[in-house]
Amino acid sequence: MFKINENYLKLPGSYLFSTIGKKVNAYAAAHPDKKVIRLGIGDVTQPLAPAIIEALHKAVDEMAAAETFRGYAPDLGYEFLRNAIAENDYRARGCNISADEIFISDGAKCDSGNIQEIFGQGNKIAVCDPVYPVYVDTNVMAGRTGVYDSAKETWSDVIYMPCTAENNFAPEIPKERPDIIYLCFPNNPTGSAITKPQLQEWVDYANKVGAVIIYDAAYEAYISEENVPHSIYECEGAGLCAIELRSFSKNAGFTGVRLGFTVIPKELKCGEVSLHSLWARRHGTKYNGAPYIVQRAGEAVYSPEGKRQLKQQIAYYMKNARYILEGLQSAGYTVSGGVNAPYIWLKAPGGMSSWEFFDDLLERANVVGTPGSGFGPSGETYFRLTAFGSYENTVEAVDRIRAL
Ligand SMILES: Cc1ncc(COP(=O)(O)O)c(C=O)c1O
Repeated sequence: MFKINENYLKLPGSYLFSTIGKKVNAYAAAHPDKKVIRLGIGDVTQPLAPAIIEALHKAVDEMAAAETFRGYAPDLGYEFLRNAIAENDYRARGCNISADEIFISDGAKCDSGNIQEIFGQGNKIAVCDPVYPVYVDTNVMAGRTGVYDSAKETWSDVIYMPCTAENNFAPEIPKERPDIIYLCFPNNPTGSAITKPQLQEWVDYANKVGAVIIYDAAYEAYISEENVPHSIYECEGAGLCAIELRSFSKNAGFTGVRLGFTVIPKELKCGEVSLHSLWARRHGTKYNGAPYIVQRAGEAVYSPEGKRQLKQQIAYYMKNARYILEGLQSAGYTVSGGVNAPYIWLKAPGGMSSWEFFDDLLERANVVGTPGSGFGPSGETYFRLTAFGSYENTVEAVDRIRAL
């Protein structure tokens, strides 16, 4: 009889977004006259920028002629895109990353989930709490996390680094030594960012103890403050200890188009083995590349027109973020994030739990957010609102909350 991967049975149900969906649907069915505004899910709402649409059309036309048709993409991705990334995202920021250290993929979710495959079973992971759930769940699937404590909602073999108001939602170096450290800045869900000296401390620590950092910079485009690094490779020595994940979802609206990349510097080694060679082997064996037309669309993100249009798109979302942040602050809420990230993290008022506040907000303001407890125990009593809605809906939602 075949056997299943029993690690999958250990996964606690991921009920967060389905529970939210059920509650919202039930409320909407019972109150058909009410306009429910959703500021819960981290999906973008603005259409693709014209420069990207143009590149997509052009690439589609190329596929229609034998002379310009493309089949399988090169393993690492097309050079035109890797060169554009290396130049714009790295060399322009003083980071010494070359095109052949970049692996094009169909998004950061897959990469952040798959990257653990190249590491041994016995590694101990450290994650922020609250956290983007993919990092932990994929290590559960791989059998690396030990036993689940359903009361505490934690795994015995995972090091949790609480991110709370006391530490300004920035993790502290853990007492126990991890092998693999997942960091995500600007952060989902808290919307917090860390400064370059703070990130340098993590790089120094990882190099000192022989740990690897998996740095998820999916929200890099939202950074507005000077002292916040856009890439971990802005830190000295990061090439020796860090893998960086990037996405085109949030900077260019590719959530449905799908494109991302992973950077593994060639100098990043475990003994004599370069992680770059392991990921290249994995990529070559298991992955056949993001579509040509999508990679051409990705290239357009770096064209002068693309850059200009996307700057406007980010500014549109960040105007929403500012409206939420300032609106709720002036109404007396304790609010953070929203300056270098499209997420606003607020404390549920009056000692309510995350879910109590969710129900209250749905019932009385008809506004949907995400309960912070869904991202980890330290998220309890917090609540996430996103800036990805339309400006009109954002204003209406915030004004309703203010009027409560
Ligand atoms: C921290 C983080 N990383 C990765 C992703 C997924 O990105 P992609 O759409 O490229 O898979 C998300 C999406 O919400 C995210 O919040």
